[in-house]
Amino acid sequence: MIFVKTEEEIEKIKVSCAIVRDCLSFVGSRIREGMTTRQVDELVYDFIKSSGAEPSCLGYCGYPASACVSVNETVVHGIPGDRILQEGDIVSVDLCAYKDGFHGDGARTFCIGEVSEEKKKLVRVTEECFFKAIGNLKAGTPLYDIGYAVQQHAEANGFSVIRSYTGHGIGREMHEDPSVPNFGKKGTGPRLRAGTVLCIEPMIALGTWKVRVLPDGWTAVTTDGKAAAHYENTLVIREDGVELLTL
Ligand code: MF3
Ligand code: CO
Repeated sequence: MIFVKTEEEIEKIKVSCAIVRDCLSFVGSRIREGMTTRQVDELVYDFIKSSGAEPSCLGYCGYPASACVSVNETVVHGIPGDRILQEGDIVSVDLCAYKDGFHGDGARTFCIGEVSEEKKKLVRVTEECFFKAIGNLKAGTPLYDIGYAVQQHAEANGFSVIRSYTGHGIGREMHEDPSVPNFGKKGTGPRLRAGTVLCIEPMIALGTWKVRVLPDGWTAVTTDGKAAAHYENTLVIREDGVELLTL
């Protein structure tokens, strides 16, 4: 069931999303070589709490942290810990804030110091995939046009699209219908209605799109060990386009 939100609900989602947006820029200004992924998580926890919100991820299905901090070959759901960030790493930070009954969700991939041209291109193309996906998005667009646009752009650049994780609706729950895959056939899927709130989150890999989950039950890594990047924003579908809430 795809909910259409009222303007009152959207106003509340906007508040949570503004915290996510500001937290992502705060992390971007602080993240650097020598930090552990746990220290990144602490920045996120403190920022969200001091904004009067709750980190939605903490305790979600038993997830033990406030952010997902995914380095290089980790695609998503990297559990923060003792791993030390090194020059040349790319680090995806994904976080959600919950306030006044509604969630916001966003992710960025940061470069630590000088990174290879290949990884730089991967990070850039992953962001571009998001903007390609929203280029023609508005009320009436078939859902799978989103994934079609992401896949076209990723594959045209020689990269692959992660299949086993998707974007999603968001609101009172962090994950609501519909699931928003990053691949698909143009012109298919339900037509999106104005007032639908979605998280669109391309996850793009340098090599294979195949992933496996480590024994911790969360950390998803590429099976070839090559890097992946992640970029996510929450947005509202409007009659004439989209309204970005975490940017
Ligand atoms: N923020 C993630 C998403 O984009 C969800 C993280 S899963 C959690 O859907 F367990 F860490 F919360
Ligand atoms: Co999400």
